[in-house]
Amino acid sequence: MAGPARLCVTNQKGGVGKTTVAINLAGALNELDREVLFVDLDPQGNATEGLGLLEAYDAEPPTLLDALVEPTDVSRSELVYDHEEMDVVPSNVDMNAAEATLAPEDDGATRLDTLLTELETGYDVVVVDCPPNLGQVTDNALIATENLVIPALAESTSKRSLELLFDYVGALEMDYDAEIEPRALVANRIETTREADEMLEWFDEALPDVPLYRIRKRVALQRAFAEGTSAFAVEEEIDMCERFLELADQLVETLEPMEVNA
Ligand SMILES: Nc1ncnc2c1ncn2[C@@H]1O[C@H](COP(=O)(O)OP(=O)(O)O)[C@@H](O)[C@H]1O
Ligand SMILES: [Mg+2]
Repeated sequence: MAGPARLCVTNQKGGVGKTTVAINLAGALNELDREVLFVDLDPQGNATEGLGLLEAYDAEPPTLLDALVEPTDVSRSELVYDHEEMDVVPSNVDMNAAEATLAPEDDGATRLDTLLTELETGYDVVVVDCPPNLGQVTDNALIATENLVIPALAESTSKRSLELLFDYVGALEMDYDAEIEPRALVANRIETTREADEMLEWFDEALPDVPLYRIRKRVALQRAFAEGTSAFAVEEEIDMCERFLELADQLVETLEPMEVNA
């Protein structure tokens, strides 16, 4: 039986909207009746907080790091938390040691792949939120999922961060004989400025094969985060939900047939 589709939301630049996109994409997939497993790999645990699971961030071991160290020796019930829209593997304060703990190991970058194989039965899609840096933890996400959703601000600084990301991914593909594909680019926190318009054009021209989604700056997305859910589970209607649904729909269309044929 084929496993679920896996994807990660990644960009080594901080504050570009990885966590916001990851949570709302997961919420949109839930709206499309997909069973979602959300994994917060960022040691800072922002997604864990934004899904209302802050108590898990300080939970006693075994934590996500223990599970990455011993991926075949995990207790699903101790690792996976319930959320009204999805199941969540929260981050934990001890993930701050993950770079140093996993780095010396030969298979240090393939632990998440092994762990997901243990955990993902019964889910349709696994969504992984990445930390804001390149290193062993992000490598784990890239190798385990091989499918990237890349948020980027509609600012000129994004040109260089995307170049760095693609160079890095290219090197990792060679090292691990992997095929890692960008599946969507999410221009995020868009405001009505000339720089934003120019960057949206640049995204289209520089990455013609990667579907581009446009998420505008909306304080309502921050309010949903503060309520511990995606924008789909709050009372107020948020216009960007439609964009997240389009993104979710396209990813499902692209990734699910591949899983069936795998
Ligand atoms: N479309 C948006 N509109 C308004 N605020 C946003 C939007 N996307 C992200 N933010 C805010 O910007 C900050 C950084 O976003 P976040 O998703 O945490 O980025 P990252 O995970 O890449 O560090 C957060 O305070 C978040 O609420
Ligand atoms: Mg984040």
